[in-house]
Amino acid sequence: SGSGLPLLVQRTIAKQIQMVRSVGKGRYGEVFLAKWRDEHVAVKIFFRTEESSWFRETEIYQTVLIRHENILGFIAADIKHMGSHTQMMLITDFHEHGSLHDYLRTSVITPQKLQLMAYSLASGLAHLHDEIVGTPGKPAIAHRDIKSNNILVKRNGQVAIADFGLAVKYTSEMDEIQIAQNARVSTPRYMAPEMLNQSLNQQQFEEFKRADMYSVGLVFWEMSRRCYTQVPGANTTTCEDYALPYHDVVPADPTFDDMYDVVCIKGFRPPVPLRWQDDDVLATMSKIMQECWHPNPTVRLTALRVKKTLGRLQ
Ligand code: ADE
Repeated sequence: SGSGLPLLVQRTIAKQIQMVRSVGKGRYGEVFLAKWRDEHVAVKIFFRTEESSWFRETEIYQTVLIRHENILGFIAADIKHMGSHTQMMLITDFHEHGSLHDYLRTSVITPQKLQLMAYSLASGLAHLHDEIVGTPGKPAIAHRDIKSNNILVKRNGQVAIADFGLAVKYTSEMDEIQIAQNARVSTPRYMAPEMLNQSLNQQQFEEFKRADMYSVGLVFWEMSRRCYTQVPGANTTTCEDYALPYHDVVPADPTFDDMYDVVCIKGFRPPVPLRWQDDDVLATMSKIMQECWHPNPTVRLTALRVKKTLGRLQ
């Protein structure tokens, strides 16, 4: 399994957890900082209505060969039936910087940091998307809810992809796409145009990967705004304020219909500041993000291509 731990051991770990404090709330439930034998861990407690997300995420984390430095490290999962209700938890590595969204709101980054963050995101997603054929093998996995809230910032400046509650798996040998029976849908703000106009063919696994890459383009835009550069002719640096993609053209919690109008009908995409052409990393990022959010999914870059392009920059 993902952590290599038998289920009974996972249950034992869950029983030894001491909750410290809440670090985040979402639609899914709540995340806590906790202690397990003097070590910090993150504990995600799911709302009772999110049983299918817990089930799916647990199943994805138990996939052999899923472990990767840019995928959140799984420790244990547990479900407890307590009389009339059920408590579902997931125990993972804890990252004190929190989500990329929270990090970018309060921090600015250098071009070198931007490159490492973007490269590590592409590496994690390339590993997820990749099918490993053999024994053991690894199915190809598409995330389906890539956004800055579902990415964690590690102390070494790399990122880790989290929240697999909506992920889909594909094994070419069986030619079968496994989608969770989950009422939850991805976040409208980050949905690819083909999701919004409902032309995505769910029988073609490649199409889920391409939709993930559209979302990556938006996350790269969020990161790039916080990357500072020298102001020409002045002894200062500058960058844009933190903003969510489409913050200026949709309401605070946009609906599917709001996004359909902006992304599909009006064809809007986030603006790319001229400043980004003054730095090699930012100029490369500009090109990559625009190729990721292209309206035609078949011409978008793959995660592996993005990883290679960013790896080639010194
Ligand atoms: N917020 C959500 N998941 C987290 C984690 N694993 N570590 C720190 N903050 C988080």
